[in-house]
Amino acid sequence: MAAAQKFDVVIIGAGAAGLMCALTAGYRGRSVLLVDNAKQLGRKILISGGGRCNFTNQNIEPAAYLCHNSHFVKSALARFSQWDFIAMVERHGIAFHEKTLGQLFCDDSAKDIVTMLTTECDWAGVTIQLRTDIEQITQQDSGFSLQTSAGDYLCDSLVVATGGLSMPKLGATPFGYKVAEQFGLKLLPTTAGLVPFTLQPEDKIRYEQLSGIAVPVIATAACGKQFKEAMLFTHRGLSGPAVLQISSYWQPGEKISFNLLPEHDFVSWCTETTAASPKLSLKNALSRLLPKRLVERLIELGDLPDKNLNQLGKGEIQQLADYLHHWHIAPNGTEGYRTAEVTLGGVDTDELSSKTMAAKKVPGLYFIGEVMDVSGWLGGYNFQWSWSSGYAAGEVV
Ligand code: FDA
Repeated sequence: MAAAQKFDVVIIGAGAAGLMCALTAGYRGRSVLLVDNAKQLGRKILISGGGRCNFTNQNIEPAAYLCHNSHFVKSALARFSQWDFIAMVERHGIAFHEKTLGQLFCDDSAKDIVTMLTTECDWAGVTIQLRTDIEQITQQDSGFSLQTSAGDYLCDSLVVATGGLSMPKLGATPFGYKVAEQFGLKLLPTTAGLVPFTLQPEDKIRYEQLSGIAVPVIATAACGKQFKEAMLFTHRGLSGPAVLQISSYWQPGEKISFNLLPEHDFVSWCTETTAASPKLSLKNALSRLLPKRLVERLIELGDLPDKNLNQLGKGEIQQLADYLHHWHIAPNGTEGYRTAEVTLGGVDTDELSSKTMAAKKVPGLYFIGEVMDVSGWLGGYNFQWSWSSGYAAGEVV
């Protein structure tokens, strides 16, 4: 039987976090093996941002992350920031642009980011091995031994970078959670985040014909968290950036409130518009502010009156204001991991060092990226966590 091959560091998972960790450790002169069970590395990077990868955000801040310990992300984000990643992108001559709200995308293709990371891994002397299943991990007196479908390995440091459960068709597996369990690390319950809502059957009937209509809104969760972005009606329910963002703050059974007129105060707008055009129908007036099909459907459903502006009484105007500024939905659920961008929960950060991502009670074991209980907002925040946590571990493994 062939003797086990020895590396200083073995990293399981060649996604965003694993690649960043590998190149950082490689540049420090560590011998690094980066393994993945897929036949292609960085698959989520490749499909991200509609194929253009929203690789970071200019406005990265700890408050944009959901984590049971809200201070946990601070150290790693400060030590490898969005500006550090942008500098790497610029060094590779990759053209990029800000789309909106500080979100940075490649001008050309997400492939540029994968090529950049694999080139850096190559320069740093990292060995990359795909199509490799990890069969068993055993802790040694010092370090770990790994039995894999491609042979046995020994390492001083073992880094788990296998991501979360979102998008199983892209190879997501619960592997990282199983390793955490094997070593007695606490897991926090996982759920789908940044995910579209499905509607209760009666709401689905009410709104499904609006599929494709987008409305700028302020979405508010029961906890008070708000996002001002677009909401999109779909044939299954609600999506769009405002909905994806607020889904990470939603608990089953709760309502989400949507301000359908975020730029207007309905009472003053209605008073002014009535003074200028008293005989204008509410339908035509509101269609200046909202998509016409939405207004028509709300009238059809009897939620809005089919009246002229001058027929509206004071109380009715106030009721309409309440309705339009606080239109709400109690989602039936979410589309789940099948379409979620991230997984909330995971390896409890109380088990890990916020400086190095090392497991406090298992010397030499590290968790980075989405496998841990850290999830960011939509808009490049999740990749930045992968870069920052990958770098933090890469500096010490
Ligand atoms: P990631 O999932 O990237 O990598 C894990 C790796 O581990 C994979 O290569 C997988 O094959 C491997 N693996 C899994 N199980 C294994 C096993 N048992 N053995 C060996 N290897 C195993 N974020 C953002 O900031 N901007 C964006 O534009 C987008 N867009 C986006 C689109 C879509 C459709 C999705 C699903 C997600 C995004 N995201 C995003 C989120 C982002 O993709 C995500 O947060 C990071 O990829 C997480 O990086 P990780 O390296 O932790 O896991």
